[in-house]
Amino acid sequence: MANLEIRGITKKFNDTTVLSDLNLDVRQGEFFSIVGPSGCGKTTLLRITAGLEFPDSGKILINDTDVTALPPQKRKTGIVFQNYALFPNMTVSENIAYGLEILKTDKSVIKNKIDSVLEIVSLSHKLNNSVTSLSGGEQQRVSLARVIVTEPELILFDEPLSNLDYALRIETRNELKRLQRDAGITSVYVTHDQTEALALSDRIAVLDKGIVQQTGTPHEVYYDPRNSFTAGFIGHANLFDEINSEIIFNVRTGRGKFLALLPEEIRPVKNETDGKGIITDVQFTGFSTEYSVQVNEKIIKTLCATASEAEHLKTGDKVSLNILSVNGENKLRILDK
Ligand SMILES: Nc1ncnc2c1ncn2[C@@H]1O[C@H](COP(=O)(O)OP(=O)(O)OP(=O)(O)O)[C@@H](O)[C@H]1O
Ligand SMILES: [Mg+2]
Repeated sequence: MANLEIRGITKKFNDTTVLSDLNLDVRQGEFFSIVGPSGCGKTTLLRITAGLEFPDSGKILINDTDVTALPPQKRKTGIVFQNYALFPNMTVSENIAYGLEILKTDKSVIKNKIDSVLEIVSLSHKLNNSVTSLSGGEQQRVSLARVIVTEPELILFDEPLSNLDYALRIETRNELKRLQRDAGITSVYVTHDQTEALALSDRIAVLDKGIVQQTGTPHEVYYDPRNSFTAGFIGHANLFDEINSEIIFNVRTGRGKFLALLPEEIRPVKNETDGKGIITDVQFTGFSTEYSVQVNEKIIKTLCATASEAEHLKTGDKVSLNILSVNGENKLRILDK
């Protein structure tokens, strides 16, 4: 198990700064996610950590040792890619053995290691199958087994589940979490899917435009975002400026500040006489129903548990908006920017 320190990493491609004086600390055994929109620099940061790319400045430390100048194979890290990167003409066991053969590991040791790693990823029965005959989820487990078998101290994941369909993604994600917990390997997991990051992580770093916006536990980044980017990206929060806060909720934010409310913290209530909002869209998704409400020019997203609703609203209904408690408290979430 390793700890990882990313110190002042800056990286430019041509004249564009992709990562800007970036600092992160990942603790031993932690499942740490880096989440942010497409193009914000996640893969670049992971590749620099793995030694596949060099930073313009800054340092990478693994177990307090500066590895910035070391090649990938000397860093005791494994990397799991989105596209699995398996050898299509080989069987499951040949794919897993490959890395160990390069390290000139003894044949009998390789066999034992393959047996035990296949048990961990529940694929013992597919030992001699060609990898192309496996499902997407099974292939992803082989790519994970191939990394685990080399006994890395740190595993880097680059959107490993994004090629899987929804159900398989959830199943593989639960399995991944179990494996990581059992093996206790420090993991850095890159994704643009904030739900995945919330579900899997001990802590999350929110990245935008190559800058860390916030680091915290899933609860902290969700309920206590430090700025409007984190509020919007992690919780799909609605942001209300000084004027809208006062008009819609009678809340004074102070000059230039924003009231941030998560969709589930706002309750639309039918009010044909005084309602300032109009329901413009209704999306029923089973457990919950999402109502879009327009007030003047602003579209506000609200989310209600379907079963808890006394009356079902429909497009065109006039509503007033009530604030429910914010994270179980009466304190409002006011942000500077
Ligand atoms: N080798 C390269 N040469 C030039 N520009 C690059 C190179 N690699 C990445 N970039 C640019 O750096 C920026 C960050 O890319 P990166 O792949 O790190 O983003 P990402 O956060 O992983 O995005 P995604 O979620 O789409 O995978 C992008 O604008 C990309 O075009
Ligand atoms: Mg990427």
